[in-house]
Amino acid sequence: MPVLAHLSDLHFGRTDAKVVEALLDDLTQQRPDVIVISGDLTQRARSAQFAEARAFLDRLPAPALVVPGNHDLSPLHSPLNRLFRPRAKFQRHMADHAERQIWQDDQMVVIGLDSTRHLRWTSGKLRSSHLDRIDTVLAGADDTACKVAFLHHPPATALSGHPFEVLADRGIDLVLAGHVHKVRVELIAGAHHSSCILAQASTACSTRLRDEANGYGLIHITMPDMVVEMRGWTGQAFHTVHRHAFRKSGSHWRHGTHLA
Ligand SMILES: [Fe+2]
Ligand SMILES: [Fe+2]
Repeated sequence: MPVLAHLSDLHFGRTDAKVVEALLDDLTQQRPDVIVISGDLTQRARSAQFAEARAFLDRLPAPALVVPGNHDLSPLHSPLNRLFRPRAKFQRHMADHAERQIWQDDQMVVIGLDSTRHLRWTSGKLRSSHLDRIDTVLAGADDTACKVAFLHHPPATALSGHPFEVLADRGIDLVLAGHVHKVRVELIAGAHHSSCILAQASTACSTRLRDEANGYGLIHITMPDMVVEMRGWTGQAFHTVHRHAFRKSGSHWRHGTHLA
């Protein structure tokens, strides 16, 4: 069964070393096929923080796809870099990971979308070119494959109008996001009899907690079924905190057996 791990908001520069090591151990035990990281790899986009993030990526037990978060753009106190080369450090340090924003096999298609905008720090924004990119990639995808999009900012703020309808109607099955450091797993209705699943992760290993423990998502895919498992830090190790089961019929996702 294909398994995708979703990490977000690592924030190197403000990490808990014990949690980082436990996270790597847990990922090694869970053996995901691919790992996506939805931004905020660093706390302040400093070179040393990117180097730490890169060392973490190099220890991951599966191929990783990465998009930047708002904290990965050049900070405001470097206004020229912020304006003209906001992603230069991210691209230099993430190199091959940042260039490989699409994962495709016969069971899943995963598309990374860079929602950061240097003038829209908090909400981010997706452009029509992102949607065109989704259309292009999905045009060549197997109908039965699970279609996943991941971005830093929750779509409700990064897309104007009816964000989930836009994604669900394009054939996206699952949207992965972060930024707010809060877990949220829910079924979202699109227009035109379509729907998709939103799975938002907490911060994986930083001390920037917002009333929620560190955690990450494990997505188990056996189309037409999907289980979103949220793993959470309990002080000693990562454990399963929630499991949400979903089943697709036609272009509709519904709740399956809900396992606590
Ligand atoms: Fe963050
Ligand atoms: Fe963020």
